[in-house]
Amino acid sequence: MSASPAPALAPPPTPAVAPPPAPAVGALHLGGLEVWPPVVLAPMAGVTNAPFRSLCRRHAGGLYVSEMVGARGLVEGNANSQLKASFAPDEHPRSIQLYAIDPKDAADATRLLVRGCGSDGTGPGVEHIDLNFGCPAPKVTRHGGGAALPWHRDLYADIVEATVRAAGEVPVTVKLRMGIDDAHLTYLEAGRVAADLGVQAVALHARTAEQRYGPPADWSAIAALVEAVDVPVLGNGDIWEAADALRMVATTGCQGVVVGRGCLGRPWLFRDLQAAFEGRPLPPPPNLGEVADLLREHAELLVAAYGPVTGLRDLRKHTGWYLQGFPVGGALRKALNQVDTLAEVERLLAGVDRDHPFDEAMRRQPRGHTTPPKRVTLPHGWLDSRDHGSTGATLPAEAAEAVSGG
Ligand SMILES: Cc1cc2nc3c(=O)[nH]c(=O)nc-3n(C[C@H](O)[C@H](O)[C@H](O)COP(=O)(O)O)c2cc1C
Repeated sequence: MSASPAPALAPPPTPAVAPPPAPAVGALHLGGLEVWPPVVLAPMAGVTNAPFRSLCRRHAGGLYVSEMVGARGLVEGNANSQLKASFAPDEHPRSIQLYAIDPKDAADATRLLVRGCGSDGTGPGVEHIDLNFGCPAPKVTRHGGGAALPWHRDLYADIVEATVRAAGEVPVTVKLRMGIDDAHLTYLEAGRVAADLGVQAVALHARTAEQRYGPPADWSAIAALVEAVDVPVLGNGDIWEAADALRMVATTGCQGVVVGRGCLGRPWLFRDLQAAFEGRPLPPPPNLGEVADLLREHAELLVAAYGPVTGLRDLRKHTGWYLQGFPVGGALRKALNQVDTLAEVERLLAGVDRDHPFDEAMRRQPRGHTTPPKRVTLPHGWLDSRDHGSTGATLPAEAAEAVSGG
């Protein structure tokens, strides 16, 4: 697998609607799954639930991964975990991100998911499982989970192996960060180990856990991983517009891209990405009226899935992202965050200036997490050994339940 030299840091902004060069990448093959364009919606806790995925999927092909679901919760039949593992009836491929710190939990949860999912476990099974080894949240790393886990390479390998074995024909991928911090990089080794154990692709969020979301993603690490493994690499970090995705593929040699914050409030980014990968001109961005329609549709999907109270509460985190850069005024934003009914959402949005154009400067405006670097919280003595077995450490029960992703 070859790659051209990549820049140390993600390149600077380019004009928003640059004519895309012909892409040199084909469909992504994950076992029996063919994914076109080679674009993956990044798992985002509290965001990439079934309603949001539906809205994104409507715009283009690709792979749309669920929010992170704890393996232990699934095994215990936790209603919230099962709800997170729900899919719209028309959703295909059904893709889920699993978080586990115990190989047995990982295998048991995988068997359940492959057999059937949804709130009562009787829906069709998942068609893709991604394992979370990238979460930097203290509540997760404090117990050795997420981005901390690959440091204990025996435990990491056991979880990957148990999942791949339990998944059978269903493709498994891993999502990594570069490591815990610059002195404890794990991604090349973790990528090779996962590939040897039968994962179908390795996704890399090109930052360390310590970096959180502070510095620009280091795309050169993606290129290094492409050189190191013989399965497809999915590059992740700082794709804000379609041109970024093409540049990431061109400069790193990765076979697919994972898009997170760029699509927050912009589900149409997937339409742009498909056009770019197909060498077509990008469609014009939506005006305020079209964005308001998407916001309303998002509200409808959330209410249909979770009811008005939970659904409209969930909507609050999205309204600011949709309306970013539009001169709608603070009063409307505030009112949208206090609505109780869909009718109120509709009434409030009916008053916007529908013809107001999208502000191009907003494309690259950071949103979602922007957390600066922060020391990673780890279990006592975690870094003293690379082998979990030799530490004699057992991870506490609450460590098995994930709380947030990243
Ligand atoms: C709100 C939010 C929640 C996230 N939750 C998860 C998660 O559950 N699992 C995961 O692997 N990554 C999670 N991430 C990280 C993203 O998947 C992605 O790796 C990261 O945002 C970098 O990509 P981007 O620059 O395209 O946003 C989360 C990111 C955000 C912004």
